[in-house]
Amino acid sequence: MNIQTGHSADATTVEEGLARVEAQAADFTSEDATALAMENTLLTPRFYTTDFDEMDALDVTPVREDWDKLIAQMVSDPNKGHFKKNEDWDHIDWDGMDPELKKEFIDFLVSSCTAEFSGCVLYKEMKRRGNNPDVTQLFQLMARDEARHAGFINDALREAGIAVNLGFLTKEKKYTYFRPKFIYYATYLSEKIGYARYITIYRHLEANPDQRFHPIFKWFKEWCNDEFSHGEAFALLMRTDPKLTESHVNKLWIKFFLTAVYGTMWVRDHARPAFHEALGVDIDWYDQEVFRKTSTIARQVFPLELDIDHPRWKPTLRRLEAAFNDLDAAKARGSLLGRLTGSARAGLAFASLYTIPSKRNEVPASVRLEPAY
Ligand SMILES: [Fe+2]
Ligand SMILES: [Fe+2]
Repeated sequence: MNIQTGHSADATTVEEGLARVEAQAADFTSEDATALAMENTLLTPRFYTTDFDEMDALDVTPVREDWDKLIAQMVSDPNKGHFKKNEDWDHIDWDGMDPELKKEFIDFLVSSCTAEFSGCVLYKEMKRRGNNPDVTQLFQLMARDEARHAGFINDALREAGIAVNLGFLTKEKKYTYFRPKFIYYATYLSEKIGYARYITIYRHLEANPDQRFHPIFKWFKEWCNDEFSHGEAFALLMRTDPKLTESHVNKLWIKFFLTAVYGTMWVRDHARPAFHEALGVDIDWYDQEVFRKTSTIARQVFPLELDIDHPRWKPTLRRLEAAFNDLDAAKARGSLLGRLTGSARAGLAFASLYTIPSKRNEVPASVRLEPAY
């Protein structure tokens, strides 16, 4: 249950660990980084809240065998000592880094830290509000992991002289309410896409170590296994109630979340060209690869997948990206007309993505998967 960061080794609860991360962050707070993490736009990571009573009423009996195995694996805590800097943590010359790369990399770290911490806050709250021993145990374990992840990224940021003030974020960032089923779709996807993103970068840098411009990427392999397990837990939760994935309306919602999550990722990644160039990664290739892995994994539970090879897919993602870029520029200029047309174009591009026919999928009898990439 402890957070392991470069400076902390033996916090015993999530609460203590978080307090420690917050205390560390307070020493080094960068207003810019925190302001960035506070942003609530369509593209930035959000904080969520939900109907905790409804989630507490979940009954995992239908998946009990798989559930107990997964929980036992998480309790055994294979990554207990992983999120600690050691001799593999090479020195980074932040001052000598190309300014454009530095800006995009910090943006990447801040948004990753916010996303990790967003999971931590939601999971911790579920643990606090619930009485169901299965549900609270799972959420406690996931909060433990996400606290470590966020703390470790904050450690990396601190070397650049900045940190996200996580205590301030918890109190001040706006929370978005999602019904529990939307939490399952969105969180399942974000955990699995998180796994796919981390492992794809890790494998690329394993083959091209000269492009590893920061040591944090060395930690991604074990890290992504945590995300994989979290995704497994949500897959099991969705399997407890067949309506969640089988009703016609819910299929439309699943398609909506897939389209929104993939579209957002595309736009966000394409806003960081220097970062991807430094990694030696072609952004189109990387995003398609992450979509492909995520879609393949999601066959374990979703009755449909997006057709990412459809002729309309990539051109429409590019239109979405252009619309968001123009929207940003219009906001900067203070142009109302530019904002209206930008929003309308983004909406149309999204509708066009959403109406690409999806591919049907027969979900397997057994839901559990192991990380395979
Ligand atoms: Fe995480
Ligand atoms: Fe996670």
